[in-house]
Amino acid sequence: MTSDALENLSHEDRSFPPPAEFAAAANAGVDLYARAADDRLGFWADQAREFVSWDTPFTEVLDWSNPPFAKWFADGQLNLGYNCVDRHVEAGNGDRVAIHWVGEPEGDTRTITYADLQREVNQCANALTELGVVKGDRVAIYLPMIPEAVVAMLACARLGAPHSVVFGGFSAEALRSRIADAEATTVITADGGYRRGGPSGLKPIVDQALATSADTIRNVLVVRRTNQPVNWTEGRDHWWHDFVGRQSGDHTYTPNDAEDTLFILYTSGTTGKPKGIEHTSGGYLTQAAYTFNAVMDIKPDSDVYWCTADVGWVTGHSYIVYGPLANGATQVMYEGTPDTPHRGRIWEIVARYGVTILYTAPTLIRTMMKWGADIPGGYDLSSLRLLGSVGEPINPEAWMWYRRVIGGDACPIVDTWWQTETGGIMISPLPGVTATKPGSAQMAVPGISVDVIDDAGKSVPDGSGGYLVLTEPWPGMLRTIWGDDERFVDTYWSRFPGMYFAGDGAKKDNDGDLWLLGRVDDVMNISGHRISTTEVESALVAHPWVAEAAVVGASDEMTGQGIVAFVILRGDAEPDDDTVTVLRNHVASQIGPIAKPRQILLVKELPKTRSGKIMRRLLRDVAEHREIGDVTTLADSGVMDLIRTGLDGG
Ligand code: WT7
Repeated sequence: MTSDALENLSHEDRSFPPPAEFAAAANAGVDLYARAADDRLGFWADQAREFVSWDTPFTEVLDWSNPPFAKWFADGQLNLGYNCVDRHVEAGNGDRVAIHWVGEPEGDTRTITYADLQREVNQCANALTELGVVKGDRVAIYLPMIPEAVVAMLACARLGAPHSVVFGGFSAEALRSRIADAEATTVITADGGYRRGGPSGLKPIVDQALATSADTIRNVLVVRRTNQPVNWTEGRDHWWHDFVGRQSGDHTYTPNDAEDTLFILYTSGTTGKPKGIEHTSGGYLTQAAYTFNAVMDIKPDSDVYWCTADVGWVTGHSYIVYGPLANGATQVMYEGTPDTPHRGRIWEIVARYGVTILYTAPTLIRTMMKWGADIPGGYDLSSLRLLGSVGEPINPEAWMWYRRVIGGDACPIVDTWWQTETGGIMISPLPGVTATKPGSAQMAVPGISVDVIDDAGKSVPDGSGGYLVLTEPWPGMLRTIWGDDERFVDTYWSRFPGMYFAGDGAKKDNDGDLWLLGRVDDVMNISGHRISTTEVESALVAHPWVAEAAVVGASDEMTGQGIVAFVILRGDAEPDDDTVTVLRNHVASQIGPIAKPRQILLVKELPKTRSGKIMRRLLRDVAEHREIGDVTTLADSGVMDLIRTGLDGG
């Protein structure tokens, strides 16, 4: 038996220092670490003054007198709409493009400058006011990836009306329960959006959600996007183009308190009831804007930034809306899927707009690996200078592929760890400072304090694994779970007193760099060794035949749990009878015999959530020959059938 909370199995020697020109011009230098370590709160106060415009300057940085309920910059006042839009126009940058919007149908594009954005946000704020929305009212936003989603969020921010963005792929029941939990008064939606080559309706889903007990809703504002026929409830439903379109483009904002709620964003918990993660204004914007500057190295005059997330996730909130717009950045926003109308769509857009900074998810990178390097190889990607990754551990081989095929071996990669709950990036290299290691998020960004601890709450030494915790409050932290302080305390602050428990496993390598090892619920226990699914998956993906792998622990009479791997081969791999044996031995040779999978199943698809995370729970059901459990959050419901039939048939 071992006493380690988590085994440290894999080993990585590769390391890539930043290119000299990149380092010379980088926004963030190595001095930030020392400044933050010397005086953490003073450092955050500096960031709050540098990146945020205040109507009333704050005098107090942090109030931590009632932990874990934090207040940051509490006596300061500001307006996030002003910070993200108006001040750039005032500074003479009204003509700068804020959003190069690309619809899924080819040729369907819009260019929105900061001056355009100001007019549209003001019109929307006036429209919401006419609909009776006042400060503190919750507004549900259920939209496709169209500019109106950004406009609606900023209009809410301007009014101090917390938005609750619900991802457009969620069902009527998911929408209904979120509207009910937040007691929203207004829904902003569209007739539909374009996905996978055709229009897909949203308004009917809203109608369905509102038909079943969502009686707090007074008004529904509907963007016309697809021209699909819609049912209309007179008095409740209003077309955006009429109602917003006829409003004045001027709007005078009222400053909000730093601790006024900016938004609620629901994230799935272990129990069925979604958690409404509540974020406030001043601290959140400070962290989003500062990290966007330091980690994404934005140069607003010359960069074209693109984050491929949906505004329905926190990545879209912090790194499409608030972080980039507070910095006055120019960005691409894309409505559709990566393979519509062809598998080169992402790279075509990068080339067309000269994207310089690309921020995406490992699931997209692995999909691109599966489709083959020829596809991005057909486009000019030389404009790219920085690549980012978020959402899951990125396996070293996927990282290397991203660096070589997409980045032309020239772009730093920032692997950014954070959560809906943290509001902004917490762990990441600084692109002009850190010598990056494939697969490691490496270290806390300046101002953030993290540790890896064992079951007893003790910091583990370098070379060991354990639980990731945040040891000091941070400006962008969630303030509570909407309406449920007790659940907030229980979920995040109870397991290790005085520390925020993130729910992730991590290890420190021999240099003290951090490696994220996935959710602790995904840890396997093999003969008393606690092994992370991530490490075994990375070993599999390191084999040239493998595009993607998902590993689960299935109960095993001999060993407690046995390792079962589901593997997708690359397009050009030619499997034979020995493939599985070769791959099992490969894992054993990469990370040790203890991690050799008991079973490897070759599959065509893996079950994923709509944000791209693998649903290991469902794979455990397969591996343990159980009925498959709740699939409501599965992105593609056919996948489990495909996996099952594939297995039964061979
Ligand atoms: C969970 C949070 C952060 C915005 C998108 C996801 C995993 C996130 C990384 C990374 C390893 C990562 C963690 C975390 N995660 N980024 N760079 N390396 N794991 O937000 O849906 O709240 O999920 O995503 O497990 O706890 P989220």
